[in-house]
Amino acid sequence: MQKPPDDQDTSQFLLYGEYTDAEELSLYHNDMTAADIPCIEQIAGNSENPNLPVMVLDPDLMIVRVTESVSRLFSKHHDNLYKPFFNVFGKSLDQEALQDLLVSIRSHTTGFSWSGTLSHKTPSTTALYTNTTFIPLIRDNLRVSGYVVHFSDITNEYNKRLRDTFQGIMEAAKLKDNDTGMHNERVGYYSKKMCDYLFENKLYSQLDPDFIENIVFLAALHDVGKIGTPDYILQKPGKLTDLEWDIMREHTINGTFILASHPDPMAKEIALSHHEWWNGSGYPFKLEGEMIPLSARIVTIADVYDALRMKRTYKQEFAHEETVAKIIENAGTQFDPALIEVFSTIHEEFNSIWNLMRDPEESGSSIRDRDREFSGISDSAF
Ligand SMILES: [Fe+2]
Ligand SMILES: [Fe+2]
Repeated sequence: MQKPPDDQDTSQFLLYGEYTDAEELSLYHNDMTAADIPCIEQIAGNSENPNLPVMVLDPDLMIVRVTESVSRLFSKHHDNLYKPFFNVFGKSLDQEALQDLLVSIRSHTTGFSWSGTLSHKTPSTTALYTNTTFIPLIRDNLRVSGYVVHFSDITNEYNKRLRDTFQGIMEAAKLKDNDTGMHNERVGYYSKKMCDYLFENKLYSQLDPDFIENIVFLAALHDVGKIGTPDYILQKPGKLTDLEWDIMREHTINGTFILASHPDPMAKEIALSHHEWWNGSGYPFKLEGEMIPLSARIVTIADVYDALRMKRTYKQEFAHEETVAKIIENAGTQFDPALIEVFSTIHEEFNSIWNLMRDPEESGSSIRDRDREFSGISDSAF
C-alpha cells in the first residue's frame, strides 16, 4: 500500500486521490479535532481565498466552514448554511442522486467522493444549478475526517443545453408541420403574459419565477407530438375521418413521450392536456376543472386565441375584438372561468403580441386545415 508522504506539514489532511490502495481507509465519525481546523481553513481558503467556492463538512456532514464565495452564491436560496448538509441541500437532490451521494462518500471504491448536479429552488427565485463535488479529507492514518465540497454555478450552461436539445425537437416537429409560422412562439408569449399577471396578483401559489420563465418555451412545444402523426393525416386536404381524428388526437400522448426526459413536469403537462376542456369534454382523458394542470389551462387559452387570429384555408382571420368575444363566450365550457377573467383584463396585451409577431400574409394564408385541430373551434367549440 502506498503511504502518504511524511513531510506534508499542513497535512494531517490530504485530498483523496493521491493513494491508489484505499482498502484500509475507514470512516470514523466525530473524528474532527481542534487541531484539524487550521488545516481545514487552509484547504477551504476561508481566510486566504474567500473566492474559492467551497465549504467544509465534518464527518457527520455538518457544515463547519463556508467561504464568502459560497455564501454569496446561495444568498437567495439558502439562508443559514451552518447546519447539517442535508438540512440545507436535501431538497436540491432527487431521491436517486441522494442515495448515490450517501453511498459514494462512504465507499472506498468511489474514493469517498461524489460529483453531481444540485438544483436549488425557492418560491421567489429562479432555480440555481450547481455542479457539486465532494472531496474527502484524509488524515495521516488514512481516515476520512471530513469533506471539502466544491460548488460551481452551471445555471446558464444547464439551461442552454436543455433549451438547445428541445429546440432541436421543436424544429423537427416544424419540418413535419411547417406551415404554422410563428404560432408556437406566440403561444409561449401569450402564456407568459398571463402568468406575469397571475404572479403579480398572487393568484396561484404554485406559480413561481421558474414557472413563468419556463412556460414561454414549454408552451411553444405544445404540439411537438405531431412528429408522430402520419404525414398523410397532417397534409390531407379536406375533412378527416373519425379514425384519422383519433390518430391526430394522439399527438398529445406522443408529446409526453417526447418530453419525458425534460426535468420540468410542466413540459409533459402542457403537451398532454392542452386540448382538455374545463367541462370535461376535451381529450385525451376528459379531465375537468382543476384536474387539468394550470399550465395547460393557460396554454389552451393562448392556443385558441392565436388559432382564431390566424388565417386558414377554411376561414378568414378573426379580428382581435371578435376573438376576445368568442373566447369569453366559452368560459366554463372550454376554458377555466377564473383565467378568462384575467384574459378579459389583459387581452390587449395578446393583441400587441399578435401584431408584433404576426406572420407575413403569404405564410398565414398557406396554413393548412390540419391546424384547426389544436383548438377544436371549427368542429364544436364555437
Ligand atoms: Fe397550437
Ligand atoms: Fe395540439
